[in-house]
Amino acid sequence: MCKTEAMNKCDILVIGSGAAGLTAALALAETHRVTVLAKGSLTGGSTAWAQGGIAAVLDAGDTFENHVRDTMIAGAGLNRRETVEFVIERAPRSIDRLVELGVPFNTEGADLHLTREGGHSHRRIVHVDDATGWAVQDALLRAARAHPNVTLLPGRACIDLITGRHGEKFSGDGRVWGAYALDEASGRVEAHVARATVLAAGGAGRVYQFSTAPRGATGDGIAMAWRAGARVSNMEMMQFHPTCLYNLEVKNFLITEAVRGEGGHLLHPETGHRYMADYDPERMELAPRDIVARANDDQIKRYGLDYVHLDISHQPPDFVRQHFPTIHEKLQGLGIDMTREPIPVVPAQHYTCGGVVIGLDARTDLPGLWAAGECTESGLHGANRLASNSLLECFVFGEAAARDILAGWDDLPPPPAIREWDESRVTDSDEEVVIKQNWTEIRRMMWNYVGIVRTTKRLERARNRIDLLAQEIEDYYGSFRVTTDLVELRNLHQCADLIVRSALARHESRGLHFTLDYPETDPLARDTVLVP
Ligand code: FAD
Ligand code: SIN
Repeated sequence: MCKTEAMNKCDILVIGSGAAGLTAALALAETHRVTVLAKGSLTGGSTAWAQGGIAAVLDAGDTFENHVRDTMIAGAGLNRRETVEFVIERAPRSIDRLVELGVPFNTEGADLHLTREGGHSHRRIVHVDDATGWAVQDALLRAARAHPNVTLLPGRACIDLITGRHGEKFSGDGRVWGAYALDEASGRVEAHVARATVLAAGGAGRVYQFSTAPRGATGDGIAMAWRAGARVSNMEMMQFHPTCLYNLEVKNFLITEAVRGEGGHLLHPETGHRYMADYDPERMELAPRDIVARANDDQIKRYGLDYVHLDISHQPPDFVRQHFPTIHEKLQGLGIDMTREPIPVVPAQHYTCGGVVIGLDARTDLPGLWAAGECTESGLHGANRLASNSLLECFVFGEAAARDILAGWDDLPPPPAIREWDESRVTDSDEEVVIKQNWTEIRRMMWNYVGIVRTTKRLERARNRIDLLAQEIEDYYGSFRVTTDLVELRNLHQCADLIVRSALARHESRGLHFTLDYPETDPLARDTVLVP
């Protein structure tokens, strides 16, 4: 069936090998052949880095309604209730499935151990010590590797989705037929043609200078879907985690929210004042993440500090070592003993709440394209994600995508003949410095102008910069052979543009979008939906 060696055909293409992509792939592989593409290594997404855990109502004293309420309070009412209920009711089943796959969750007697995080009114976070993501990624990957119907292709950076306009006969119906991907080893661009495509390419955290997200979180999935014609929403809702380690060598190491969940205090580093009492006296350190991140940012700016302190040294040393073995060991290596002294922390970008608009069936606007995980806006998180609801969303919507594709399989048309990638008009780059310069400029500008506290003036400055960079990046993309760095720069720029346009469109402060020019919250919560 292959037209040339640069053309690959499969039943279903999954873009991304994190929690969302592999969940979808495993469910689809029960009956169909699935190819999974990943940029770089198969463990390079955020999933492997997740620390705290997965939220699920498992305790007899807790209820779905409590979890729904906590999610909607954190999300400042912008969540779609139907989605919130859909996800939360499926959480226990998702945990059972992970247990079946061999994820070694911590236990307490016969039950799973539940920890606590900000915004949760109950203990409901299942976890594997403080390295839950790695255990989940490992279990999913082992199952995918063992499955005869799953082909895993790392080192493939998707450049764009294939749509009707890439067919040998032009078709303008917007249907998606797979993706063009750069084989990072050979430098060749391959067409991966499929009847159904699942986009699970993760978030856009690296659009900011300081982020807890891995290097590859450059919003490729969001940018590709947008260019192909899908709506994107709530991109202004960028989540900042309150406690990223402050260290001159290690720039993006997260200190899990569970440290506060297990009793950690936030302190002014000079006076020792437990300042959350001044911002949210009732919930203190366990207020939702947007409130704690803004408090940390405020302390740092108000007192000219480099960082604030997170202190759990009042808990017994064995308790700390037992609950946080990974963090303890990492900090020991940097000369910090968290059982005896406070940890210097700063806020950093952490999660992309907005993304490609999907329904409960994980369908996007484009026929042939489903999406799941951090690249989407499903309605679960609203204006601010509740801690540990994200992995959960990946499992639920990965499954939902698979179910919907399989249910409608017979009605999906077979792909037409697709054109090969055209490189006839490009040469090798002679100035790689352009990529580095623009990448650095975008990330710094987003941090300074589109950060935790915003103003219209700063957002407009950001918009002007983004407009100026647009021509330069498109010229570069049109003239030179693609590399992963170039693919990522183009997507970072695209996402920065979507974030700033969304932020300028929201004339209120809600959840993660806090602007001094519109400090009030409107009575009616509305999504910011951008239409290509
Ligand atoms: P990812 O796991 O990010 O995977 C993205 C995949 O897409 C990767 O395989 C990547 O290679 C691939 N990809 C990207 N671009 C391309 C391209 N152009 N071509 C081909 N492939 C591409 N959430 C929780 O619920 N609980 C937690 O405890 C938690 N802790 C976290 C800690 C950290 C440090 C971070 C950064 C996040 C944490 N989160 C947590 C959030 C959560 O980890 C992520 O939202 C979730 O893992 C996203 O999964 P995903 O499958 O959507 O994407
Ligand atoms: C953390 O462990 O603090 C991160 C949890 C999350 O992002 O949901």
